[in-house]
Amino acid sequence: MKITNICCIGAGYVGGPTMAVIAQKNPNIKVTVVDLNEARIAAWNHDDLEQLPIYEPGLDAVVAEARNRNLFFSTDVDGAIEAAEMVFISVNTPTKTYGKGKGMAADLKYIELCARQIARVATTDKIIVEKSTLPVRTAQAIKSILDNTGNGVKYQILSNPEFLAEGTAVQDLMAPDRVLIGGEQTEEGLKAIQALVDVYSTWVPDENILTTNLWSSELSKLTANAFLAQRVSSINALSELCEVTGADVNEVANAIGKDSRIGPKFLKASVGFGGSCFQKDILNLVYISKSYGLNEVADYWEQVIIMNDYQKHRFASKIIQTLYNTISGKKIAFLGWAFKKDTNDTRESAAIYVADQLIDEQATIAVYDPKVTAQQMESDLNYLGTRAEEENERFLMSIKDPYEACKDAHAIAVLTEWDEFKTYDWQKIYDNMLKPAFVFDGRGILDHQKLETIGFQVYVIGK
Ligand code: UDX
Ligand code: UDX
Ligand code: ADP
Repeated sequence: MKITNICCIGAGYVGGPTMAVIAQKNPNIKVTVVDLNEARIAAWNHDDLEQLPIYEPGLDAVVAEARNRNLFFSTDVDGAIEAAEMVFISVNTPTKTYGKGKGMAADLKYIELCARQIARVATTDKIIVEKSTLPVRTAQAIKSILDNTGNGVKYQILSNPEFLAEGTAVQDLMAPDRVLIGGEQTEEGLKAIQALVDVYSTWVPDENILTTNLWSSELSKLTANAFLAQRVSSINALSELCEVTGADVNEVANAIGKDSRIGPKFLKASVGFGGSCFQKDILNLVYISKSYGLNEVADYWEQVIIMNDYQKHRFASKIIQTLYNTISGKKIAFLGWAFKKDTNDTRESAAIYVADQLIDEQATIAVYDPKVTAQQMESDLNYLGTRAEEENERFLMSIKDPYEACKDAHAIAVLTEWDEFKTYDWQKIYDNMLKPAFVFDGRGILDHQKLETIGFQVYVIGK
């Protein structure tokens, strides 16, 4: 079976870039990305590529090439579903904030709504592809909804989890370490798998396309993120030990990373991992383990999250303690708010939690981030629900110029590893700060020796 028409439900961080690349690489397939959110679709269709709703290096060029050729963005969800032979589900699956599994289980509300919508409108057979990260065995639920509420048409469900990292999405999509496709191991299932393999094989080498059963594919996605997050929590746990023993976490990371069995990646000590995936997926893994009665397995993975929370808390406490245990009324400048560099995404960013703790102590936080809007910062902080929104507004401000943000500050905290922070005129920043001038480098990116020579008091995680 040859696919000529693809629909993707959800024009977010996953659906948008993924479909843009699939369309660019398959000019003969019409790809329509749909979303309920009209503003988001309008932004994807904006003539000015600077206005795309998602910032990813290289994405604008891909969109420019494929858009209105065979890549379309639309709010006509029903029409796009009906026209497609293959429908990707790429909607959000946040952690539940209510009811059973609150704070841990994935909220499958949006997935179920999609399944019901597909069942309602489809009048021809379709292959449904799970792109969103889902708990293992979700395909079963989707299939059951489709089969029981549909118009008698046949469905095949595939799991094709996304492994792209934000900030490098286009690069990861162009040259993926692997593409994973899981499906039913029946004749029809294998045919559906092959149809999706053909979409990817226009640019991904065959040996990098792995096919598995549905459940292995669903579980591999959670597991990949859990393993990566575990490495960050492991190096972060060691960072504190380095600080008290005189070891240097970078030297330790380098030494262990040279062992090819361990490898050099994901060993960068930080103020804590963030992003929409790591915490959510691990909590999900913990919840699934518990629901099967595997309490030791659940506790093992939960410790990765506990360590991450501790790391954020420890960084904030270090700032408070260093500033003589009183930061009330003091201005603290934040460089960075995004959960990592080269993205405007702030979900679960460490900066939010560090700011919250400092505001509890009545510090004023002046944030500069090259890509995050003031509105986003406020809404991130409000989402925690720690205090009234007016109060958050009073204590948190977004400043569009880094030098302005640092002016008259008692301390600067680096929360995101944006490259531009390294290129600033640090002498000028120092001259305009209150003394003693402190820098807390939560990402270990600045030239610490130079800063000390200028006169800064510098704290670096893991040193
Ligand atoms: C280890 C370190 O590898 C070595 O660098 C260090 O100097 C000494 O300790 P060793 O104890 O000889 O070496 O064995 P290793 O090959 O690391 O295996 C340790 C244990 O882990 C074994 O029981 C092995 O069976 C087990 N293992 C290893 C697994 O169960 N799975 C694996 O994927 C790898
Ligand atoms: C992650 C996975 O990498 C990707 O494969 C998956 O599909 C989605 O989740 P992403 O959330 O975009 O991608 O970011 P990633 O680069 O993995 O970083 C996650 C967090 O860990 C960031 O906050 C980052 O700053 C932090 N991190 C990463 C460290 O603190 N140290 C490291 O060494 C690596
Ligand atoms: P991700 O990082 O997983 O891509 P996002 O939140 O960035 O998550 O994107 C998910 C998108 O899915 C949102 O833009 C949301 O509006 C959209 N969405 C959720 N449910 C539906 C639905 N039933 N129909 C169409 N779009 C939906």
